[in-house]
Amino acid sequence: MAEFSPGLEGVVAAETAVSEVDGANGRLIYRGGYLIEDLVPVATYEEVAYLLWHGDLPNEKELEALRKQMAGARRLNPSARGTLMAMDAQTDPMDVLRTVVSAQGVAKSLTKPTLDEAIALTAIFPTIVGAAWRRRQGKEPVEPRDDLGHAANLLWMMEGKEPDTERARWVDTYLVLLADHGLNASTFAARVVASTGSDLASCVVGAIAALKGPAHGGATFAARSMLDKIGSAQNAEQWLADAHARHERFSGFGHRVYRTYDPRAKILREMAETAAPDLYKTAARTEEVALKILHEAHPERPNATNVDFWASVVLSGAGIPKELFTTLFATSRVSGWTAHVLESLADLRIIRPASRWIGPQPGKKPLQLAKR
Ligand SMILES: CC(C)(COP(=O)(O)OP(=O)(O)OC[C@H]1O[C@@H](n2cnc3c(N)ncnc32)[C@H](O)[C@@H]1OP(=O)(O)O)[C@@H](O)C(=O)NCCC(=O)NCCS
Repeated sequence: MAEFSPGLEGVVAAETAVSEVDGANGRLIYRGGYLIEDLVPVATYEEVAYLLWHGDLPNEKELEALRKQMAGARRLNPSARGTLMAMDAQTDPMDVLRTVVSAQGVAKSLTKPTLDEAIALTAIFPTIVGAAWRRRQGKEPVEPRDDLGHAANLLWMMEGKEPDTERARWVDTYLVLLADHGLNASTFAARVVASTGSDLASCVVGAIAALKGPAHGGATFAARSMLDKIGSAQNAEQWLADAHARHERFSGFGHRVYRTYDPRAKILREMAETAAPDLYKTAARTEEVALKILHEAHPERPNATNVDFWASVVLSGAGIPKELFTTLFATSRVSGWTAHVLESLADLRIIRPASRWIGPQPGKKPLQLAKR
C-alpha cells in the first residue's frame, strides 16, 4: 500500500490545465499559460472567468455575450430568495452563501454540470453577498444592476450606491487574483463531489464549506483582525513577539505550496499603499517584523507573506467589511471551482483514496450492547 501523507501533501490527485501554482518560483499560471502579473493590468474578472472556463481569452463579441449572460442571471430564483429572506439577518455571511447557493441549485432531478450553470452560479454570488450584508445592517436587499460589471455590481449590491471606478478596480483585481489556485482544499472538495456524478450547485456548496475554515478562506478575516489588534506600526514588534511566545500563528503568513513570497501578495501590496494608506503603514511594519520572527524560528522553512495578508488591506481600502472577506474569496473562486468541475467531466472517476487502519484487529474487543 502507498505511504500515508498527512494533509495529502505531495500527493498528485488530479491533472489540470485550469491553473498551476509554481511554489518554488513564486509563480501563478492561469489557463493558457498566462502569468497572473501579465493578466492583472489588462484583464477584468469576467475575462479571466471566461479564460478559466474556455481556455482562451474572449474576443469583443464573446465578452459582450458573457457580460449579458451574467447580468441576466443575477436574480435569485423564488426558492433561493425565500430561503435568504427567512434566514436570521445576523447569520454568518458564509453560512448565508452556502445555504442560498444550495437553495438556488434545487432541481427536480440530478443534472450533469454545464457551462451555462457555471456562468449562472458565478453571477449570483454578488447578489447573495450584497443581500446578506444589507440585511445584517437592517436594510432591504437591492435589485442587481445589469449595466455594471461584476465587481461594481457587487459594491452596488452591498451599498445601493454606484461605486467609483477606482474602488471597483481594486475589488476587480482581487477577484482576478483569487479566481483559481491549483488543487487547493476547496477546489479539491468541488472535484471530489463532482467525481461522484453530482450536480454543479452541490459541488459549489461543498467548496464553500471547505473554504470557510481559517486555514483556507478565513485567513483574510484573521489577517485583518490581527492588524486591528496590533493597531499601529509602533505596536507591531511587541504584539508579534507576545503572539509568537503564545505559539499563535501569524495570519497571512506561510503556505502549503509557495516557498517564496506569494505573487498575488506582491501585486496587492503595491495596490494597498494607495487603497488604504494608514492601514498600509501598520501592515508594512507588521510584515517586516513577522517575517523576521518566522525566519528566526524556522530558518529551514521559508514561511513568507501569503495573499490573505495584503488582500485584507486592499479589500478594507475598497470599503469591504472584514465580515465579508471570506465571501469575497468565494465570489472570486467560484469561477475556478466550476472550471475544475467542468474539466473533470472529461475523465470522470470517483475520487476514493485509501485509509490506514489503526483500530484493533477483529475479535480483540468484546461485543457489549446496552441492556434491552
Ligand atoms: C497556511 C498554513 C496552514 C500552511 O500549513 P502547512 O503547510 O501545513 O505548514 P505547517 O503547519 O507544516 O507549518 C510548519 C511550521 O511553520 C511554522 N508556521 C507556518 N505558518 C506559520 C504562521 N503563519 N505563523 C507562525 N508560524 C508558522 C510553524 O512553526 C509550523 O511549525 P509548528 O508545527 O511548530 O507549528 C500555515 O502556514 C498557517 O496556518 N498559516 C496561517 C493561516 C493562513 O494565513 N492561511 C492562509 C493560507 S493561503
